[in-house]
Amino acid sequence: MSRRHLTFRQLETFATVARYGSFSRAAEALHLTQPAVSIQIRQIADQVGLPLFEQSGRDIQLTAAGQELLQTARELDDSWSRFESAIGALKGLKKGRLRVALVTTAKYFLPRMLGAFCQRYPDIDIELEVANRARIVERLRANEDDLYIMSFPPEELDVVATPFLDNPLVVVAPASYTLPAGPLGLAELTPYPFLMREAGSGTRRAVDRHLAKTGHALNVKLSLGSNEAIRDLVASGMGLAILSRHVVGDNPEQEGLHILDVAGFPLQQPWSIVHLRRKVLSLPARAFIDELLEHAALS
Ligand code: PGA
Repeated sequence: MSRRHLTFRQLETFATVARYGSFSRAAEALHLTQPAVSIQIRQIADQVGLPLFEQSGRDIQLTAAGQELLQTARELDDSWSRFESAIGALKGLKKGRLRVALVTTAKYFLPRMLGAFCQRYPDIDIELEVANRARIVERLRANEDDLYIMSFPPEELDVVATPFLDNPLVVVAPASYTLPAGPLGLAELTPYPFLMREAGSGTRRAVDRHLAKTGHALNVKLSLGSNEAIRDLVASGMGLAILSRHVVGDNPEQEGLHILDVAGFPLQQPWSIVHLRRKVLSLPARAFIDELLEHAALS
C-alpha cells in the first residue's frame, strides 16, 4: 500500500464516518454529498486492500482493518495538533479546534465557562459532546476528544485528572412532603420511593457506592437518564432523588423542591478535567485547562 495516495482529507472523511456511524450524517457534517463520501471511503479501502466498514442491520460498523485505521488516524491527528500548537506557540497564537466531552450533569455549568473562553479566544472552534459517564469513558479510552469533564476519573485507564469544582450530591424531596425535621438518617428515608439516574451514570455510581459503604438500600421506583426529568418528577410529588446541587439550581423551593438534611450528605466528589496521560495536549486544550483552573472553586 502506498502512503502517497492517501490524503489527510480522506482520513478526515473516514474518521467522520466512523464517528457518526453513518455515511449520510458524515456527509452532512462535512458539507459533502453522500456519493462523494462513499467514493473517498472506497478509495481508502482500495489502498488498504480490505473493507473498512461492514453493514450491521441499518448501521455500519468498523471492521478490524477500519479500527486499526481509525487508531492510526487519531494518532496522526494528535501529531498534527502538536505540530499546529508548536507553530501557534512560535507565532504566539491560540487557534485551532478543541473537542470537549462532558458527562450529562456537567452541562449545567460548563457551557457558561465555555462562553467566557470563546470570547477570550474567538479563533478556537469548539466541539462539545454530552453523554453519561459510561459513554464518556468509552470516548476517553478511544482517544476521541482533547479533554473530558467528569467527577469519577476511571481508575482502569492511565489518565491525568485535575479537580477544579465541587460537585455536591444532595437528597431532594418535593416541597409538598412533610418529613421529620432533620438531620435524618438514610434508614428513615427507606419507606419513600426514589427516582434514580440510570446505570452508567456517574451520579448513580456515587450513590450506589455510598449505599454499599453504609449498608443501606433505597426503594428505587424509577431509573432514568435525565436529570431534568428526575428533578421535575420530584417536584410533582412522585418521590425523592439524589441529584447534583448543580441540577437543583439556586432556588430549589421555587422549583417545588426541598433539600433534605441527611447524615453523610452532601456526597462530595469534585469535577475533574481528565485526559489520557499519553495525550499530547494542543494549545487550545492547555488554554482551556488554564481557564477552568482560573475559575476553580473547591472547598
Ligand atoms: P452523570 O455523571 O451525568 O453520568 O451522572 C456525573 C458525574 O460524573 O458526576
